[in-house]
Amino acid sequence: MAKLRTTRNDLGDNAKKISTEVLNATLADIMDLNNAVHMAHWTVKGPSFNSLHLLFESFYNQLATQLDDVAERCVQLGGKPNGTTQLVGEKTRLAPYPADITLGLDHVAALTDRYAALAKSVREGIDATDEAGDADTADLLTGISRSLDKALWMLESHLEK
Ligand SMILES: [Fe+2]
Repeated sequence: MAKLRTTRNDLGDNAKKISTEVLNATLADIMDLNNAVHMAHWTVKGPSFNSLHLLFESFYNQLATQLDDVAERCVQLGGKPNGTTQLVGEKTRLAPYPADITLGLDHVAALTDRYAALAKSVREGIDATDEAGDADTADLLTGISRSLDKALWMLESHLEK
C-alpha cells in the first residue's frame, strides 16, 4: 500500500488507510464491471435486443458516476486511485468477462454473477469502513450498494419464472 498524502481532512490515519484500500479495491471492480456492461451493450443479440441494449446503457451510466465518486473519495483521503487499465486488470476481483457471448440471457447471467459479487464486496466494504470510523465512505458505499442490489434484481428477474 502506497503512503498516503497528507491532507487537512481530520479523519484518523487508520480510517484513511482502511478506506483508501477499500475504495481502491472497489474502484477496480466497478471499472471492470463498467467495461463488461459496455461489452454486453455492444454485443447483445436476440429478441430482447432493444430492451437489454437500453438497460445495459442505464447500468453503465450509473457505474460511471459511482466509479468517479469512489476514486475522488480515495483522493480526498490522501490515496491514489488504481485507475489505469493495467491496474484494473491486475486488481479486479471479478471473474474475467467472456468475450464471445452474444445471446441476451447469456449476457444477463454473466452480469448477474458479477453484480452479485460486487454487491457482496461493497457490503463488506461498508462494514470495514464503518468499523474504521469513516461514516462518509460507509455512506457512499451504502448508496452504491443499494443501486447494485437494484440492478441485480433487474437482471435476476430475466432469469426467473
Ligand atoms: Fe451505445
